[in-house]
Amino acid sequence: MSKIKPLTILDLIRFKQASEKISCLTAYDASFSAVMDNVGIDLILIGDSLGMVVQGHNTTTPVTLRDIIYHSQCVTRVQKRAFIMADLPFATYHSKTVAIENSKQLIQDGGAQMVKLEGVHMDIIQHLVQQGIPVCGHLGVLPQSIHKTGSYRTQGKLQREADKIFIDAQKIEQSGASLLILECVPAILAKKITLALKIPVIGIGAGVDCDGQILVLHDMLGLGGDKPPRFVHDFMEGSDNIKNAIQDYHYAVKSTQFPSEDHSY
Ligand code: KIV
Repeated sequence: MSKIKPLTILDLIRFKQASEKISCLTAYDASFSAVMDNVGIDLILIGDSLGMVVQGHNTTTPVTLRDIIYHSQCVTRVQKRAFIMADLPFATYHSKTVAIENSKQLIQDGGAQMVKLEGVHMDIIQHLVQQGIPVCGHLGVLPQSIHKTGSYRTQGKLQREADKIFIDAQKIEQSGASLLILECVPAILAKKITLALKIPVIGIGAGVDCDGQILVLHDMLGLGGDKPPRFVHDFMEGSDNIKNAIQDYHYAVKSTQFPSEDHSY
């Protein structure tokens, strides 16, 4: 049997250059992580969405660094191929020193290969990258700012909002980030950003033209509540088991069948 080669950030960049879509999902435990790895999911995020889908909170803000480390350990213990990133949770990257210390724990204790942070923090991103810590940015809807913004509404519908998100995306790339997540932005804006950046852009509610697609695991398994957002598709519909649903999701992303215009803003 041939040995499985773990993906690196360079592979994800090569996927973008070759116009091969990057399939991503969130995971929080070893069982799902193993299934995702077996079906070929390229990128796994230990997201702070775990606060809502695993812990039962209303927002992601109660999630702690220890929570993300624990779930990262569960995921990375069995992972063989997928590239792994972990969220820096709410209020864990407000200074360079704090961001370095916390990212170090996600990588050394959690086993993550990259950290993700929400919003534009150029000096923090630069500092992390200088210390050898790969960073993923996150723009559009920023769930950690929910108490400031008051809603999860689509960002970038107004021209001035769209212009700011476009500039912010460029700033994040210039700061040295290797990846960018765009959450709930109009498809046309996501396309403009994806074309302008060299780093891979992964969408969630960001149209059909991003370099890759991510969903929260529970949403794609139809566990996201009675009124899931427009960008979610329940892959358990028409599937006889969870493994097949995850495999269908992977193929749908790779073959550009998901997301479609119907999932876009
Ligand atoms: O925490 C999370 O699951 C996320 C995704 C929605 C991208 O940040």
